Amino acid sequence: MPPLLPLLLLSLLASASASPKWDVYALVKMKAALLVPATSTALADWDPAATPPAHCSFSGVSCDAAARVVGINLTGMPLQGGVLPPEVALLDALENLTVAACSLAGSVPASLAALPALRHLNLSNNNFTGPFPTPAGGGPYFPVLEVVDAYNNNLSGPLPPFGAAHARLRYLHLGGNYFSGAIRESYADLAALEYLGLNGNSLSGRVPASLARLKRLREMYIGYFNLFDGGIPQELGELDSLVRLDMSSCNLTGPIPQELGRLARLDTLFLQMNRLSGEIPTELGDIKDLKSLDLSMNQFIGEIPAGLANLTSLRLLHLFRNHLHGNIPEFMADLPHLEVLQLWENNLTGHLPAGLGKNSPLKMLDVATNHLTGQIPPDLCAGRKLEILVLMENGLSSPVPESLAVCKTLKRIRLGKNMLSGSVPARLFELPDAGEQA
Ligand SMILES: *[C@@H]1O[C@H](CO)[C@@H](O)[C@H](O)[C@H]1NC(C)=O
Ligand SMILES: *[C@@H]1O[C@H](CO)[C@@H](O)[C@H](O)[C@H]1NC(C)=O
Ligand SMILES: *[C@@H]1O[C@H](CO)[C@@H](O)[C@H](O)[C@H]1NC(C)=O
Ligand SMILES: *[C@@H]1O[C@H](CO)[C@@H](O)[C@H](O)[C@H]1NC(C)=O
Ligand SMILES: *[C@@H]1O[C@H](CO)[C@@H](O)[C@H](O)[C@H]1NC(C)=O
Ligand SMILES: *[C@@H]1O[C@H](CO)[C@@H](O)[C@H](O)[C@H]1NC(C)=O
Ligand SMILES: *[C@@H]1O[C@H](CO)[C@@H](O)[C@H](O)[C@H]1NC(C)=O
Ligand SMILES: *[C@@H]1O[C@H](CO)[C@@H](O)[C@H](O)[C@H]1NC(C)=O
Repeated sequence: MPPLLPLLLLSLLASASASPKWDVYALVKMKAALLVPATSTALADWDPAATPPAHCSFSGVSCDAAARVVGINLTGMPLQGGVLPPEVALLDALENLTVAACSLAGSVPASLAALPALRHLNLSNNNFTGPFPTPAGGGPYFPVLEVVDAYNNNLSGPLPPFGAAHARLRYLHLGGNYFSGAIRESYADLAALEYLGLNGNSLSGRVPASLARLKRLREMYIGYFNLFDGGIPQELGELDSLVRLDMSSCNLTGPIPQELGRLARLDTLFLQMNRLSGEIPTELGDIKDLKSLDLSMNQFIGEIPAGLANLTSLRLLHLFRNHLHGNIPEFMADLPHLEVLQLWENNLTGHLPAGLGKNSPLKMLDVATNHLTGQIPPDLCAGRKLEILVLMENGLSSPVPESLAVCKTLKRIRLGKNMLSGSVPARLFELPDAGEQA
């Protein structure tokens, strides 16, 4: 069939007036485009001969009082593939379309964009290819959309042109696709946006400073595979509602703007695997509720800033693979919730804080490949959680504390390439990866 014909047909049908009868027609078209395994009874109750309102009890279908289809949920049905046919757009009362993890392929029908009532669209975990629908001829473009989840497909081309007209859009997840080009400036006009997932695409260009206008944004994920030019806009410090910020592994350069210290609600800050440089701003210590801070695998210089002493909610701190020097500050031993501390491959000197492990449920400590000296702190296992202890390639000296030998939780220990001569508690040799002890 020539490609124009279905579209033409659609506009004819649509103008022919929406009704429960047309809903049945669209559902029948949909069923015909889906692949049900021969052994399955999925969609068996979608009877092509059904007359309204019988279609309202098709599995996965819900209707309003007028027997119009308002919801379709095919998630969980054991489909084996198929496509979404353009006739789905005849369902002009449809509010929710959930076809997540249905093994669907082919393109996302352009006709979806015209659905006047579509609020929730979940296309995630399929094999949809080609571009996301774009506006056609000045017609409506997802006029009342609130939630779109297209995570983990094979969609490509530019990001969809959402903007000021999408005043209700609060959840936008386009991660795990092949979208390319820049993040659209118009996304800064999505006044209701709470979730922005653009991670794992092929995006480029600068991270727009204008995103700072998203005052309701709680979560932003834009890293992984994307390759941006330039750095982190200082304006992002104005994202007052932000709880999670993940800009890992996306070629960011330049310093961390000290303005990020204003993100008072932030709980997770992931900036690892970039080319960020300069000193770690001490202002990050102003983010009182920060629980996870990952700045590993960058080019940071200078010392671990004193301001981090104020991060009393911190559970995870990754600063490994940078060029940090100076001491590991004593306050590390006082952070009451610290579980994971990874500082390996830096140029840190001095002693490990003597109280490390005493005041927190320390689970993992890795400070390998630095220039640390002095002794191994005695209380690393005091929280009875220590599983992984990696101290190798430093200048630490004997003795190895007996407390480690009775640390029942310990699974992996590496002490090699230090100055630990003399007796090492015997049990430590029994652990996997005990490594060389001298
Ligand atoms: C659509 O989905 C939302 C969120 O899951 C739900 O609150 C709403 O009731 C659904 N509406 C219909 C018509 O199914
Ligand atoms: C869709 O159906 C699945 C399986 O019954 C259910 O787990 C899921 O919550 C439903 N989703 C929506 C949005 O109604
Ligand atoms: C979309 O569906 C998937 C699979 O059921 C689910 O995990 C995900 O949370 C849904 N997305 C939204 C925004 O509800
Ligand atoms: C996409 O298609 C490939 C190849 O047909 C298949 O292996 C994969 O499981 C599919 N992925 C999803 C999410 O359906
Ligand atoms: C989607 O992309 C994956 C990874 O590149 C590929 O293996 C798969 O075959 C693609 N699926 C389709 C339907 O193009
Ligand atoms: C990475 O960022 C640098 C500096 O902004 C830029 O010159 C370069 O083109 C980017 N690399 C890629 C692969 O985009
Ligand atoms: C911790 O926060 C307090 C109060 O905001 C501030 O006065 C102090 O200088 C901070 N400590 C460090 C080490 O920055
Ligand atoms: C440690 O410092 C030395 C001397 O300044 C320098 O050559 C080396 O590259 C640094 N190593 C790291 C991991 O920063």
